[in-house]
Amino acid sequence: MPVEYNQQACTWTLSGGNASYVLHRDPENRLLHLYWGPRLPGNALSWQPEDYCSFASFDLPVSILPFEVPVCGSGWHGTPAVGIRNSCGDDVTDLRVLSWEVSPGKPALPGLPSTYAEEEKEAETLSFLLEDSLTGLRVTARFTVFAESGAVARSLFLENHGSAPLTVTSLLSASVPFWRGDFDILHLNGAWARERRIVRTPACQGEFRIQSARGASGHEENPFLALCDRNADEFSGSVWGISLVYSGSFTASCRVDNFGHARLSAGLNPDVFSWQLDPGESLSSPEAVLVYSAEGLNGLSQQYHRLYRTRLARGFWRDRPRPVLINNWEGTYFDFTEDRLVAIAEKAAEIGIELFVLDDGWFGKRNADNCSLGDWVVNRDKLPGGLSSLSGKLHALGLQFGLWFEPEMVSPDSDLYRAHPDWCLHVDGRPRTEARQQLILDLSRPEVQDYIIASVSGILSSSGVDYVKWDMNRNMTEAFSSVLPPERKKETQHRYMLGLYRVLESITSAFPQILFESCSGGGGRFDPGMLYYMPQTWISDDTDAVERLKLQYGTSVVYPASSMGAHVSAVPNHQTGRITCLKMRGDVALSGNFGFELDLTKFTPEELAEAGKLVSRVKQLRNLTREGTFWRLLSPFEGNAASWSFVSPDRREVLLCAYQVLSVPNTAPLRIRLRGLDPNLWYQAEDGRRFLGAALLCQGITVPLRGDFSSCVLLLKAE
Ligand code: DGJ
Repeated sequence: MPVEYNQQACTWTLSGGNASYVLHRDPENRLLHLYWGPRLPGNALSWQPEDYCSFASFDLPVSILPFEVPVCGSGWHGTPAVGIRNSCGDDVTDLRVLSWEVSPGKPALPGLPSTYAEEEKEAETLSFLLEDSLTGLRVTARFTVFAESGAVARSLFLENHGSAPLTVTSLLSASVPFWRGDFDILHLNGAWARERRIVRTPACQGEFRIQSARGASGHEENPFLALCDRNADEFSGSVWGISLVYSGSFTASCRVDNFGHARLSAGLNPDVFSWQLDPGESLSSPEAVLVYSAEGLNGLSQQYHRLYRTRLARGFWRDRPRPVLINNWEGTYFDFTEDRLVAIAEKAAEIGIELFVLDDGWFGKRNADNCSLGDWVVNRDKLPGGLSSLSGKLHALGLQFGLWFEPEMVSPDSDLYRAHPDWCLHVDGRPRTEARQQLILDLSRPEVQDYIIASVSGILSSSGVDYVKWDMNRNMTEAFSSVLPPERKKETQHRYMLGLYRVLESITSAFPQILFESCSGGGGRFDPGMLYYMPQTWISDDTDAVERLKLQYGTSVVYPASSMGAHVSAVPNHQTGRITCLKMRGDVALSGNFGFELDLTKFTPEELAEAGKLVSRVKQLRNLTREGTFWRLLSPFEGNAASWSFVSPDRREVLLCAYQVLSVPNTAPLRIRLRGLDPNLWYQAEDGRRFLGAALLCQGITVPLRGDFSSCVLLLKAE
């Protein structure tokens, strides 16, 4: 059983895979955390108060208790997981366990994205009902443990059973104490076109915090943190990860107290959140997914990959090979006609591409990024026959038709804005801050949600659309809904996310066979929340092959290759000006959901032939790259080369990918030790070399990399 209750010790041990998570109810009915780490039997631990406060100290004993749901005001001095201001104006809260239950499987989080179990035996859920008797606040703390991996999905559900309104001032999905603090903290930071760089820094007394207040998870930080043993690396050592299934403003932190105890937390960003909970009302936190690995960072990533690929992503496309696509954005930008698009599509069809994606600029009078967002009506100057004529021509060529939208936005120069100037996020009497000459629709409002659902659905049902790219190109300002009363204004950002999730659920479930890809100025909303609705995300607006090494490597810390949009674009690259060969660009992009993002009519016949071979290769490899176990082997953050591999579930195939940025004279060939193979099998490489698995694991394989921007993608198969 994944959840074992030890009545004598009053502990609950949640176990799966190689991990356990242990909780305790103390004699005073407080819910305490005992342990999270390598798997333990259910009778291994009991509460030893003297481990925490056996000494005379200035500190209150309660301030060092390992609360599972820390609250404010009765001695605990960190950030509360549930911060409550009551009707008397104080924040004191005292949660005690009323009851608990274990149920098979995993309940959904209504209105919020979350991981799921397909069969009850995959997971078990332990729920504690806690109460603050003075105010009537009830908190259900849920812990679902997945049997296969030991991943623990956590969330909190708040209900006001009292008679006076409460204000929720902070809401963390998880806040996990550790009995030590000598960790490194790992996070994924960045900026537009430089998303998800791996950064590692030692934890020390005080608080290390990452956050977004932008109304989107953002380019700057990903909603993920890991604590690593100081000697943990990609392949060994203990690592604890927390990943927040949410796409809006978030906080994540590691706080080390004055006793050297760390606490790892993630949830809604209290700087831009508060929520009035009237009597009878309820509120759910987003979900946080906790993963422990004893096998270093690769072990952590592989667990997240499997869970997010198979039990977060949903729907028709979850387990299917994704079509090879061509997107016209970097090929034409706004400057296209139907004839120009069809000319590109003809070349695409010739070389086996399967999906043509029409990006920004097909609607309203949009010829630049200064107008028409919100007017989802085809631009007849560019597409005289409308979308159905274009989609008909593409379908006749054997191509699927994909279409770009940016539904959450409105341009001040649009019919929508002229009709509904109050529908955007704004504060009366203040300027409406524009970014990319656009404003954000107030998705906390049901009528705005309904407009988006109706306008997008209308096009999807009438235009033969097979794929949607859902973009979002700015962050929030004046994020206080004009229709909320003053005491609820700070609910706007979270209400926006709930509104967005309602819109996404409604549209994606109405069009189950359409493949949806999310995007936000590249990878500005690459998070588990979006992956629940859309199984893939455009990872960055930086399409340069060398930069993509870091982008794909960093993104892979949490997210599976099947979630990454990866395209070959033209050279000189539009973001960096760098010229790399087509082989390198293709060899990098084939590790994700592969596509082109250029004007194929500009290719020479030789380049077109090479692109055609690349497409065939992608089709040959795409099941392996989607389902295979991904191993990071050599970090582009640490040197001039990078390498990763995909190992098939039966370990009989491995795709080794290796890249060199700049050529260095007079050096030994790069040798790479493979991982995850069967030591007893013989593997035959495409280039004719043969190796025993044990040799590949222990001694490695040399890869032929020569010249600047060179690459080697080598398939090895068991004999
Ligand atoms: C930002 C996206 O990341 C790009 O791929 C492209 O779709 C543009 N928006 C279009 O405006």
